[in-house]
Amino acid sequence: MCGIVGYVGNKSVVDILIDGLEQLEYRGYDSSGIAVMCDTEIKVYKAIGKLKNLREELCGHEKEFSSTTMGIGHIRWATHGAPTLLNAHPHTCNCGNLVVVHNGIIENYKELREDLAKSGCVFKSQTDTEAVAHLVARKYAQCKDLKEAVRLASYEIEGAYALCVMHNECKNTLVITKRNAPLLIGIGDNEFYAASDVPAIIKHTNKAVYLEDNQIAELTPESMEIVDIENNKINPKIEILPWEPVALSKMGYKHFMLKEIHEQPDVIRNILVGRLHAPDEHVVLNEVKLNHETLTHLERIQIIACGTSLHAAMIGKYLIESFCGISVDVEASSEYIYRKTVTNERTLVIGVSQSGETADTLTAIKQAKAKGAHILIVTNRPDSAMAREADSLIPVNAGIEVSVAATKSYIAQLMAFYLLALYMSEIKDSIAPSTLTSLKTELMLLPQKIEQILSQKDNIQNVARNYANTKDFIFIARGINYPTALEGALKLKEISYINATGYPAGELKHGPIAMLDETMPVLSILMNGSVYEKLLSNSEEAKARNARMIALTNSRDEKLNYLFEHIIKVPDVQELFSPIIAIVPLQLLAYYIAEFLGKDVDQPRNLAKSVTVE
Ligand code: M6R
Repeated sequence: MCGIVGYVGNKSVVDILIDGLEQLEYRGYDSSGIAVMCDTEIKVYKAIGKLKNLREELCGHEKEFSSTTMGIGHIRWATHGAPTLLNAHPHTCNCGNLVVVHNGIIENYKELREDLAKSGCVFKSQTDTEAVAHLVARKYAQCKDLKEAVRLASYEIEGAYALCVMHNECKNTLVITKRNAPLLIGIGDNEFYAASDVPAIIKHTNKAVYLEDNQIAELTPESMEIVDIENNKINPKIEILPWEPVALSKMGYKHFMLKEIHEQPDVIRNILVGRLHAPDEHVVLNEVKLNHETLTHLERIQIIACGTSLHAAMIGKYLIESFCGISVDVEASSEYIYRKTVTNERTLVIGVSQSGETADTLTAIKQAKAKGAHILIVTNRPDSAMAREADSLIPVNAGIEVSVAATKSYIAQLMAFYLLALYMSEIKDSIAPSTLTSLKTELMLLPQKIEQILSQKDNIQNVARNYANTKDFIFIARGINYPTALEGALKLKEISYINATGYPAGELKHGPIAMLDETMPVLSILMNGSVYEKLLSNSEEAKARNARMIALTNSRDEKLNYLFEHIIKVPDVQELFSPIIAIVPLQLLAYYIAEFLGKDVDQPRNLAKSVTVE
């Protein structure tokens, strides 16, 4: 859950590394560091905290690295050892000749440390990574070939890793490798880049090779040589990357999160392009390989995901069960992987992940695949590790999401589930054609309705101002919007650090109601439909306990004015589509509260965008 970059070529390296790390800050930001090959030796610079601290640390050292054209960099999200200078990467072997940056977790690091300590290695940090530095240095001392040293070390390292390694004796050579962690090579003119993710290199090149697990690449300005762990030469597949650099700019918004919230109408339009042309046409999902036969033989569907993607999955369950009548289970990936699931050839397993790299979901997917399940992946990254495991794929086309708090990718995942549920119902013939047409008509109107909400965002900002100083926050809903309550609470807690919880409103009186008093805000997601009256009566129960009541509603019922202190009005919509409409004001509410509190909205503490460790 860190970000790594590397460069070897003919350009001055420091800016390339720092710019690259900046694009990877979403992966972690509690410390950072670079190592550059200077005239006489490798020099290492590190700083605790945000990348700007490393920039400051480098000021005044420019002369030392003005002519350097090779280096590696790292941005850390601490796993083993606190975010201190000693634990920050790059890590070195005892003599300082070899440096390494690492993303992932070395599972057998304790055994490696013990073994290496016995042979004289002295450890300076508490990290798992330092063991790799000593181990590769030991191998290098035996074979005097850096690529070979990394290859030999790979046999002894267990766990997940992407590594970039340099050695003082190999002035023009960068060696990189990976296992169960992302790493790609960018190809320029007489230069190569290495990075954990596309944004770190896209400014320089769109030609890339995705390194596969257990492959080792030796990069020099003139050459790229890749071998597998058995030293067989690999012919790399060069791909053209699809991302545009402009996607990484804030485009005038104060934060990426606000920009990404505003992109949501277009995200919906994008995902519909080529998939739903008109209300009376079929849904087209070219990369989904489910047909009448597979659906008829299906015994169950399991959807696995984490965090926000899990909330999208919960709504997916609601839609698939309503539209297609197939039983669906939803589970957090981190739970799924540690129990005996009933998964076989007659199971459709849907993995949902913005990044496509989340370690728990990836492991769960691999387990399900090994049991013979059909794997369908819903992801924003069709180039990700999860996508590569897929039998069927729905790329959600939300564009790069920089803010750690997921917003537009959530809306895109919901859209993927609407399309999938409609697509499956068409195959199964489970919905009357006239109902299908009306559902599709409504689906195509959603972007305008979100635009309407965005145009009234000042009202939400005003509401937010009233709650910025609260300690706790409760979101209640029922039916298809219960996951919306969970997602609203998750957004608020992750960026404002306010203790927020989502409840199915019917559960209030089974315990949570005890917490209600005049200090507790309760936001009721009161959308017209089958559970409206029930939720209204739950809201009255909360009001009777003096809670500070807020409604998010598309009802125009006058009596709401007496019940609620604040009302956030949204456009009318069929109940089935209300999660798309309801989440946007909740994202804005969380955003404005966090902004009032002066929090670091795009990079909340302790979090990272892509959780590539279990
Ligand atoms: O990339 P993924 O969708 O697999 O990530 C899952 C969660 O880590 C992610 O949704 C996380 O909860 C976000 N910070 C939510 O805003």
